[in-house]
Amino acid sequence: MNADDVTYLPEAPAHDPEIEEINAEAFGPGRFVRAAYHIREGGPHERQLSFVAMHDGAVVASVRMTRVAAGEGRALMLGPLAVKPAYKNIGIGRRLVKMALETAGQAGAGAVILVGDEPYYGPLGFKRIPRGQISMPRPVDLARLLAVEIKPGTVALLSGMVDHEDRLKVPA
Ligand SMILES: CC(C)(COP(=O)(O)OP(=O)(O)OC[C@H]1O[C@@H](n2cnc3c(N)ncnc32)[C@H](O)[C@@H]1OP(=O)(O)O)[C@@H](O)C(=O)NCCC(=O)NCCS
Repeated sequence: MNADDVTYLPEAPAHDPEIEEINAEAFGPGRFVRAAYHIREGGPHERQLSFVAMHDGAVVASVRMTRVAAGEGRALMLGPLAVKPAYKNIGIGRRLVKMALETAGQAGAGAVILVGDEPYYGPLGFKRIPRGQISMPRPVDLARLLAVEIKPGTVALLSGMVDHEDRLKVPA
């Protein structure tokens, strides 16, 4: 597999079935009980900030972004990020994260958070969120709560339970 043959596109509704398949293969049925999954169930993700990698007309990897809130703080949550097994280790995951971060910044986001492996996300700019500052709706290893701060001071505003931003909206 040549990484140069892979192209990157903003996500579109037509990609949904393939993205679902890739996530099912990457995370298995356990994905439905994850904290991040529960948060994402609270509303839509941001398609214009989410990306797919394509090869030979098929989706081979995906990253999604979702608006979240925690106390007074607002951020985007990155995930799921998944790459088809045959396409791993050629830089697609890192490229998708970089695209998502860059686009988030251009869209005015102050921070991007995620639940993930520090050894993978650290080199991409993510740092641990101080223990106890935020909590998740399902148990997570607190060392896996990471953030990239785009606008200084944004991460410090995040406090308490993280949820989809739409869950905080009061119906008119
Ligand atoms: C994790 C994942 C997205 C990485 O995508 P990828 O396109 O294969 O990764 P890249 O090619 O950008 O980077 C590969 C490098 O990351 C490393 N890496 C991969 N997963 C890692 C992890 N969980 N922790 C630390 N390093 C990791 C690889 O060993 C490789 O290192 P090298 O460059 O020193 O050889 C992909 O393996 C995947 O879909 N995994 C299953 C789903 C998942 O775990 N998603 C992340 C949820 S937080």
